[in-house]
Amino acid sequence: MDKIIIRGGKPLYGSVSISGAKNAALPILAATLLVPGTHTLNNVPDLRDTRTMLKLLETLGATHKREGSTVSIDTTGLTGAEAPYELVKTMRASVLVLGPLLGRSGYARVSLPGGCAIGARPINYHLKGFEQLGVQTTLAQGYVEARCSGRLEGATVYFDMSTVTGTENLLMASVLAKGTTIIKNAAREPEVGNLIDMLVAMGADIQGRDSDRLTITGVDSLQPAEIDIIPDRIETGTYLIAVAATGGEVRIEKCNPAHLPALSEKLRAAGATVIEEGDAFVVSCPEHQGRSRCNLQGVDVKTLVYPGFPTDLQAQFMALLIQAEGTSIIHETIFENRFMHVAEMQRLGADITIDGASAVVRGIPPEQLCGAPVMATDLRASASLVIAGLACSGVTEISRIYHLERGYENMVEKLQALGADVEKIASSGS
Ligand code: EPZ
Repeated sequence: MDKIIIRGGKPLYGSVSISGAKNAALPILAATLLVPGTHTLNNVPDLRDTRTMLKLLETLGATHKREGSTVSIDTTGLTGAEAPYELVKTMRASVLVLGPLLGRSGYARVSLPGGCAIGARPINYHLKGFEQLGVQTTLAQGYVEARCSGRLEGATVYFDMSTVTGTENLLMASVLAKGTTIIKNAAREPEVGNLIDMLVAMGADIQGRDSDRLTITGVDSLQPAEIDIIPDRIETGTYLIAVAATGGEVRIEKCNPAHLPALSEKLRAAGATVIEEGDAFVVSCPEHQGRSRCNLQGVDVKTLVYPGFPTDLQAQFMALLIQAEGTSIIHETIFENRFMHVAEMQRLGADITIDGASAVVRGIPPEQLCGAPVMATDLRASASLVIAGLACSGVTEISRIYHLERGYENMVEKLQALGADVEKIASSGS
């Protein structure tokens, strides 16, 4: 498996362009199943996960082609309604085909995703919502079979916990239903808004965008549409944190600063300079005692649903706090097992103690952190190890980087352009 080798301790300088959002592209790719015809998606990142979703659409009978960052998908000739275990186990977001297949034809058979490194991640809220719209669901041989004899019927759905893909699945199932569907405690992430924009462009009637209460009035038909995928706020946040953790000054372009209110404030509280300029951030660390490294201060973080601090940036922010002055407490409220990166950071010399859903981080001077071989366990943990490797001195070797390639487009090249000493090496099948 390929590895990444980082020779750390160098500040980052220059500019970097942000790609389209993985977590907006995936539901919008699935939404093309709702109506036959050719759909055009602009600013689609070329990632392991978007390639997996396109492969899944292909198995369902769709055809697609990519020209640069534009992907066109023709879902006229759907030949199947089954998402196989082989694909779903590699990408949980495959469950997003349930909603559109139910909306289009009233039937879908999708493998249960199974657990993943960060938690059990059930889809019970998705299934309960479908059942309220008149869908029968049965579980057998590791698959969920969802079926509705006639047209889905609008209903009021309340989510016990805010669920991003649950909200997205119910949106896609209800746009062609008879009557009105109300989703209460809906997720408000910007990626949900981008999906709503696509569905409205297709002819859906949806009120309440960006709120936790969505009202969908079913329509009789939809038509193919074109959409621009929003910038990836988690990729943006990852680079913001990397610059603060390594020093220097970087302009982050083609992003949306308004999508990162919590992170911006936390970085400023930690001592970084974060300036918002239209569709760009300029982030820097003031020189400190002649060194290009921030005089970073520890801050406490609690992950919350949007617009709170994103759980998808928790691991990356920890890579900054391990070298900040003082003690920080990170409280993870969204997933039950999202500290897999802690053991790896401890190999670099970090002083972290896990106490249930919290991690207590005692910052140590960056020169006392030392590179070492580490292993990626999940997508955002792998990004945090890249940041930690960039920040500490010595050589850090990260294995299992296929995790990283699921969600970051050309990360090695983007970091090299910022002056990082990083390279990807193919390694024998170890
Ligand atoms: C989405 O996952 C994102 N993935 C995740 O990003 C992100 O971490 C997560 O939302 C939270 O923001 C995509 O959008 C493709 P949830 P999702 O349903 O929808 C529990 C990344 O790194 N829950 O909002 O699967 C669940 O276990 C990925 O890009 C149920 O119990 O997350 C979790 O504790 C990782 N039953 C909480 O709710 C359900 O039916 C929030 O999960 C659904 C969810």
